[in-house]
Amino acid sequence: MREVTLVEVGLRDGLQNESRILSTADKKQLAERLIAAGVKELEITSFVHPRWIPQLSDAAELARSLPDLSDVRYRALVPNRKGLERALETPVDEFAVFLSASETHNRKNINKGIRETFPVLEEVVRAALARGKRVRGYVSTVFGCPYEGEVPVANTAEICEGLLKMGVYEISLGDTIGVATPRQVKEKLKALAGTIPVERLAGHFHDTRGTALANAYVSLEMGITTLDSAFGGLGGCPYAPGAAGNVATEDLVYMLEQEGIRTGIDLEALCEAGWLAEKLLGQRLPSKVLQSMAAHCQAKEGNRE
Ligand code: HMG
Ligand code: MG
Repeated sequence: MREVTLVEVGLRDGLQNESRILSTADKKQLAERLIAAGVKELEITSFVHPRWIPQLSDAAELARSLPDLSDVRYRALVPNRKGLERALETPVDEFAVFLSASETHNRKNINKGIRETFPVLEEVVRAALARGKRVRGYVSTVFGCPYEGEVPVANTAEICEGLLKMGVYEISLGDTIGVATPRQVKEKLKALAGTIPVERLAGHFHDTRGTALANAYVSLEMGITTLDSAFGGLGGCPYAPGAAGNVATEDLVYMLEQEGIRTGIDLEALCEAGWLAEKLLGQRLPSKVLQSMAAHCQAKEGNRE
């Protein structure tokens, strides 16, 4: 493998889980730093209910504030028809629908059972495709559920088949609560390979137990070429108690580039985005590589002031 596509989810998966709500202008500044670092696939927000995720209630305003760049794709989560209507009034390029492989997490997260969710997503995908938008699918709790524990791989396979039939081009498999280990990732991907082409799958690993980087690496060995990550290691799902951040983009970029796998991202520039996020959020972020380069980034910022 020579290159990997990284989907930067920090502005969405990250900020949805922060108690401090950033202003639209601050989010825009973070997005601009990420773009300056070479990020091309940028998940910026969610058109979910503002009462459920108040941190992202400025979704439309943020989407409209970002520069129109031909080589950067802005992505957003869309849970239902109402979300789609809101999203279609903005310049967001690509949408993602989402549901869980476990019933309880699905209900806690989107207030419906898995079966009831299907027609809702089907309608979103059909309407989005008709408007010329690509649609991605997320399946959460593939490797374990905070409420139900183990989740059978058959649940994931059935949901993936349904999503592909609807017309999503790719499905991101979520280790929502960061319980997966490399062996489990291999086993699940092997089991899914019977029905779902690996080219249609992406990996989304949270790092609650420190296994996300290893899981990401193993998923690449299994044929996956797209990984989700969050700058600084931000992230978590407010409806999955105890979930920590995503695999940090900095850590992934460092490891992959050292392994000769291109990411298209400039690590030093990326660290500047993470450092700004630390300032705006008033906390240290968990990315190991970000921390190791912090002094360097701070010196640079100091020079600029
Ligand atoms: P609901 O309350 O069941 O919605 O919420 P409803 O359809 O019954 O509608 C109730 C009211 O909400 C109506 O208004 C709707 O118009 C309005 P009223 O008629 O009463 O005035 N409404 C909306 N307003 C704005 N935007 C909307 C919208 N939809 C309905 N989109 C809903 C259902 C799905 C909206 C809610 O449960 C929700 O917003 N959930 C979002 C949860 C979420 O964002 N979770 C985090 C993202 S998923 C994640 O992090 C996992 C992932 O990272 C992968 C992984 O790690 O595994 C992707
Ligand atoms: Mg997530």
